Amino acid sequence: MANETIPHLTAFDGAALDAAFSALEQQARAAAAALDGEAAIEAFRLEWLGRKQGRLNDISSRWLKSAPAEAKKALGQRFNGLKTVVEELLDAATGAGPTDAALQAEALDITLPGTARLTGAEHPITRTMNEIVSVFAALGYSVGVGPEVETDYYNFESMNFPPGHPARDTQDTLVMAGQERRPQRDRLLLRTHTSPVQMRTMELQPPPVRIVIPGKVHRNDAQDATHSPIFHQVEGLCVDTNITFSDLKGTLDHAMKALFGSSVKTRFFPSFFPFTEPSADVQISCIFCGGKGCRKCKQSGWIELLGCGMVDPAVFAFAAQKQPAYDAKKISGFAFGMGVERIAMMKYGISEIGQFFAGDMRFLGQFV
Ligand code: DAH
Repeated sequence: MANETIPHLTAFDGAALDAAFSALEQQARAAAAALDGEAAIEAFRLEWLGRKQGRLNDISSRWLKSAPAEAKKALGQRFNGLKTVVEELLDAATGAGPTDAALQAEALDITLPGTARLTGAEHPITRTMNEIVSVFAALGYSVGVGPEVETDYYNFESMNFPPGHPARDTQDTLVMAGQERRPQRDRLLLRTHTSPVQMRTMELQPPPVRIVIPGKVHRNDAQDATHSPIFHQVEGLCVDTNITFSDLKGTLDHAMKALFGSSVKTRFFPSFFPFTEPSADVQISCIFCGGKGCRKCKQSGWIELLGCGMVDPAVFAFAAQKQPAYDAKKISGFAFGMGVERIAMMKYGISEIGQFFAGDMRFLGQFV
């Protein structure tokens, strides 16, 4: 049917093409003007735009193909013009394009609240770690980091835990498999504390040193409310001439007041660490009851928070292998190490360490 409505084109000059296309356009306009109802509109669409038998398809397959090469461009332009006219006629007949429903779906109600996008936030552990670091940065300490996969030498031996020494048993260690053929000092493990970075720092720079080292550590500990196989520490090291235990006490007393409030008191208890002599555990007056005694401090009024001590001369001797200026006869120093989770749990009143690592947005969202 459609084929019969497309005349045979014999001439391809501009005038002949104009005549042919304007005749078709007039037919389209006349037909469109008479359209009444959806069925008629659909029939019009099929007649002109139908993929297989539509008139425009016929024009393209018959005229365009038989046209001499030099006329193809002119023909193509007129073809596109006609197609646009037909499409516009169809749009007009169907109610000018998009339906009301489509328009409504697209409409923008500027009175609605916007879409809230989650901007990330500092994890409470990162935040606490940064807070601790900035207390020491304000005292002139620099900040360093070290590897989480560490050698036996840095994690233990150079920190004065000799191979086979029972002090190693206090830090249940995750070791890399398949290292039996290496000398013990080169065997890799997940560092159990940030203390090895003390040695790495001293090997790289002569005294004086004032540095804090935040970082992640691992131990083969079963998880419970207060233990996790992954946790974080901030290590500190200060080495210079005439550094004394009073410097250590004054520094840590200031740091605890900066972190927990100026009314907090500190006390130092004898302890043992292989890399410090003497060693001490630092307790702070209970921040929950102010020292009167409560459930949190087990009625003692004190809470144990970190380890510290004067750097053991044996540790300086290891450092002196690379930096002879670490001569225990000329310099002295103190070190300390604190658990970040423990401090964060106290500051924010968190009772389960696992919450830090569970990735539950209901928990983490409280710290935004
Ligand atoms: N490295 C110790 C631990 O993980 C903590 C520590 C104690 C670090 C005393 C120190 C220190 O630097 O002097 O248990």
